[in-house]
Amino acid sequence: MKILITGGAGYIGSHTIIEILENTDWEVISVDNYANSSEATYKRIKEITNKQFQYYNVDLKDVEATKKVFEANPDISGIIHFAAFKAVPESVAKPLTYYDNNINSLINILSCQKEFNVPNLIFSSSCSVYGNVNELPVTEETLLEKAESPYAYTKQIGERIVDDFIIVNNNYKAISLRYFNPVGAHKSGLNGELPLTTPNNLVPYITQTAIGKLKQLTIFGGDYPTADGTCIRDYIHVSDIASAHVLALQKLIENKDFQNHNIINLGTGKGVSVLEAVKAFEKVSGKKLNYVIGKRREGDVQAIYANNQKAQQLLGWKPIYNIEDMMLSAWKWEQNLQNNL
Ligand code: NAD
Ligand code: WQD
Repeated sequence: MKILITGGAGYIGSHTIIEILENTDWEVISVDNYANSSEATYKRIKEITNKQFQYYNVDLKDVEATKKVFEANPDISGIIHFAAFKAVPESVAKPLTYYDNNINSLINILSCQKEFNVPNLIFSSSCSVYGNVNELPVTEETLLEKAESPYAYTKQIGERIVDDFIIVNNNYKAISLRYFNPVGAHKSGLNGELPLTTPNNLVPYITQTAIGKLKQLTIFGGDYPTADGTCIRDYIHVSDIASAHVLALQKLIENKDFQNHNIINLGTGKGVSVLEAVKAFEKVSGKKLNYVIGKRREGDVQAIYANNQKAQQLLGWKPIYNIEDMMLSAWKWEQNLQNNL
C-alpha cells in the first residue's frame, strides 16, 4: 500500500514517516518544498529506519507539479497532509502568505485526491481552532471561538473545506487530527524539531537556552490565575502524534463504516504549566535553566488541554510518553545537533 505524506521533511511529518516505516509495510512517498525544512531530514529518517522511500521537491501550491506526483504514482491509497506554514506570529505579520500557502495547498491536494481517486485523507489540524474557550478540557464538540490568528483561521477553514469536499464526494473518507502542543524528538535523539530561526515555541527555546544558543528563557507571565501563575498547555510527544496517524489511516482503510469526516483531538488530556515543563527539563537534563518570569505574551490563552476520549475510543490510541520523556528526547536531540549530527 502506497501512502503520500506532504510535508514529510518537517517535524511531525518526518516522525510519522519513521513510525510508518518501523511499524507497517506501507510504501511511503513524501512531498516537500523545504520551505521550513531541508532534504537532510530524509537522510536522518533513513539512518534511523534503514528503509528507503521516494521523495519529491514540489511546492503544493503548484497544482501542475502536484498532479505529476500523482501521475507518477497512480496507486496511492492514502494521503497525510502535513504541509503548511505554522508560525502564529508570522501569520499575523503575513496573513496573505499563510492563506495562500495553507489553503491553496489543501485545495490542490483535494483536487488530486478526487482526480486520481485516492480514498483516504488525514488532515493536520490544531488546537488553535478552539480559540479562547472557557470550557476545559476541550472536546471535539466544544464550539469553536473566533480564530486568534490567520494561522488558526487556516485550520478552521481547512477543516471546513475537507468537510464540504467529503459531503459531496462520499466515496472518500477523512480524519482531521487536532494536535495540541507536539514536542520532543525520536527516542534515538537522531531526529527532532529543527527551527530555522529563533524558535517561538517553548521546548526548543528551553533546549537552545540550556545548550547556550540562546541566553535566557522568558516565561511569558507569572500572574495567571493558575496554581503557579504560569500558562497551562497539553504537551504531547511527537512520536505519540505519529502513532495516531498510523492508527487513523489504518482505521480509514480497514473500517468501511467509518464516518466520512471525523475530527479528533490529539493530546495527553493533562495540563502542564510552563514552570512544570521547565522543572521537568531541569530534572531530566540535570541542568539549571537560565530563566526569568516576564510579561504575558499577547494572544496567549491561560489554559488549554484536551479531552482525548474520542481518540482512545475511535482509534484505540493512547499516548505513552510523559512530560519528562518529552524533555529528555528533546534534550538528546539538541545535544546531537550541537555535535554536528
Ligand atoms: P513543519 O514546518 O516542521 O513541517 C511542515 C512541512 O511542510 C515543512 O517541511 C515545509 O517545508 C512543508 N511545506 C510547507 N508548505 C509547503 C508547500 N506549499 N509545498 C510543499 N511543502 C510545504 O511543521 P510541523 O510542526 O511538522 O507541522 C505539520 C503540520 O501540523 C502543519 O500543518 C501544522 O500546521 C500542524 N500542526 C503543528 C503543530 C506544532 O506545534 N508543530 C501543532 C498543531 C498542528
Ligand atoms: C507554550 C507555552 C507560552 C515560549 C502554539 C500554537 C498552536 C499550536 C502549538 C500549531 C505558552 C509559553 C513559550 C517562550 C514561554 N501550533 N512560552 N516562553 O502558543 O501554546 O501553541 O503551538 O498549530 O497553534 O499557537 O505554544 O510553545 O509557543 O507556548 O513562556 O519563550 O509556553 O506563553 O504558555 P502555544 P508555545
